Amino acid sequence: MPNARELLAFYLEAGVDCALSETPVNRLVEEPASEERPAAKPALFRTANPPPVVPASAHSAPAAPDAAIMSAREIAPRAASLQELRELLERFDGCALKSTATRLVFADGNPEAKIMFVGEAPGRDEDLEGLPFVGRSGKLLDLMMAAIGLDRTKVYIANIIPWRPPGNRDPSPQETQICLPFIRRQIALVDPDVLVCLGKPSSQAVLDLKDGIMKTRGKWIDYDTGTRKIKAMATFHPAYLLRQPIYKRLTWQDLRAVQKALQG
Ligand code: URA
Repeated sequence: MPNARELLAFYLEAGVDCALSETPVNRLVEEPASEERPAAKPALFRTANPPPVVPASAHSAPAAPDAAIMSAREIAPRAASLQELRELLERFDGCALKSTATRLVFADGNPEAKIMFVGEAPGRDEDLEGLPFVGRSGKLLDLMMAAIGLDRTKVYIANIIPWRPPGNRDPSPQETQICLPFIRRQIALVDPDVLVCLGKPSSQAVLDLKDGIMKTRGKWIDYDTGTRKIKAMATFHPAYLLRQPIYKRLTWQDLRAVQKALQG
């Protein structure tokens, strides 16, 4: 019989590293038949005012991914400010990650910044603090920014996915598609001059780049915010640099190009 320490080690290895509630839930117990307990109608979005876009329910189940993607595409562009966008996300129930995350991780930094960094998804530290890039890779991101004279008062930082995936697993393609309209709207509302996507998932989702980061990094492309074209670049994710410090040299080249673009 394993002891408590061994059990915890087993859970940790399986990616279970946080408790979601005070009391355990036995998910192996059979649910009552559907006639006894009618299934809750899934709602994607709990509206305050004005009236709902889709049916509202206080206890909404995550919606089917396609419906959630359509709902996200419909509502995200309506946010007229970053505050409205944050509130939309707080009420949006279309992404199942929300139910396992502790809280929404919306953004950090200066909404008036000329430069915006977009990462992938919050990890454990971000989930606890509610701010992006505050863990180990965030510390490296701070150093990378400092190397070109930037800090969090001069940049705006967000992720494609604003809720931590359980156990830090990769977000699924559907989860990415569901969250994409929101980060696109966030970029449009911040309206930076320069956009930097950190790592492959961010550069593939936001910049629509098909190749891996080795091929795409360091090259300027145009990103259309909907109102204008801004300069965008992919570079290595700091978490990758922690594992592969050899690529810091190439990242330094990318950062110098970013610095030049901001000055020019
Ligand atoms: N990695 C990310 O992509 N984003 C964070 O906020 C933290 C780690």
